[in-house]
Amino acid sequence: MARNYERIADTMELPPPTPQPNVFPLSWESHTRKLEEIWTAAQREVWDPAKLPWETFDPARYSWEEREAIAYWWTLLSVFDASAPPVFAEALIKTYEVHEEDPVRRCFFSVTRDEQNHEQLCGLAITRLLGHDNPLTYEPRTELGKKLRRNAHWLYYNGGRYWTGYKQAVPKYPLAVLFSSFLMGEIAAATIFHQMAAQSKEPVFQTAFRNVGRDEGRHMAICMSLMERDYPGLPAEDRAVITKQIRAGYLFLSAVLFEPPPEFWDLPEDFIPVQRRAEEIARKAGFGIPTYEMKHENWRNAMLNLKGVLDKYGIPFPAIPEVGITGEEVTDIDMDEIIPVF
Ligand SMILES: [Fe+2]
Ligand SMILES: [Fe+2]
Repeated sequence: MARNYERIADTMELPPPTPQPNVFPLSWESHTRKLEEIWTAAQREVWDPAKLPWETFDPARYSWEEREAIAYWWTLLSVFDASAPPVFAEALIKTYEVHEEDPVRRCFFSVTRDEQNHEQLCGLAITRLLGHDNPLTYEPRTELGKKLRRNAHWLYYNGGRYWTGYKQAVPKYPLAVLFSSFLMGEIAAATIFHQMAAQSKEPVFQTAFRNVGRDEGRHMAICMSLMERDYPGLPAEDRAVITKQIRAGYLFLSAVLFEPPPEFWDLPEDFIPVQRRAEEIARKAGFGIPTYEMKHENWRNAMLNLKGVLDKYGIPFPAIPEVGITGEEVTDIDMDEIIPVF
């Protein structure tokens, strides 16, 4: 028992109420049917990255340059997917603190688990391709490989910048605001994995991308159900925050969906040319990275999708001139307080 704790049990019939918010709900309310359905689907669709048909994948069939180029794409993805488990674990804790209904807690638990799978998948692919388990300490075999390792270092540095901001944002904003950022990440993720599945030649990657894409689709549905539940009564100040977070999310996620914009990404001058070269090589080797034009088109469609959702609830969409979307001008983004996730 804590040293300063004074016993009270003998002085009253029932204990005083537990101060709220408290991480400890003792109730299992369920009001949102859709979330129960999604949870059931999540249980049914569980998969194990280690059990993918890895035996069909022989990295030795590729040149070192190709291996390093494909591993680079997985590294780029890891910058987003390796932060997803703690990001959602933090959100999961919040659902407990605010005593969210039981299916919401379970759904966030499933997202955390899925993202852990996605992170494992990145690790399994990179380790096989490079014959080494860490793209930052890997000894490159080719000239391009050296440049890609430098790119990886810069990606890692930039990705790491948002964790402190995220931790500050989670307690500050209601879950309803967080959902819009989550949804953006999920739309982005679902988009890219469906493309990658359709265009990759290796069976193991096809299956992996299909599984991940299905998970991301479920995550998207979780966010949508919660928006449907909470957005009709959303206060005006929360709406304004959402508009800003969408613009911030666009800048952040563009690095994996499109190309990294300088407003957030602090990168050396040759970063993009090096990345483009690697993507070209990976693509020629049968790894389905979309072309610049396809990325542009897909990212634009994903944003229009999101705009469609937010329009329904009267939340102003930010201007995204990079992909030709007009809207509210957002200039005062504090990049230290962004919520984007993947
Ligand atoms: Fe993911
Ligand atoms: Fe996700």
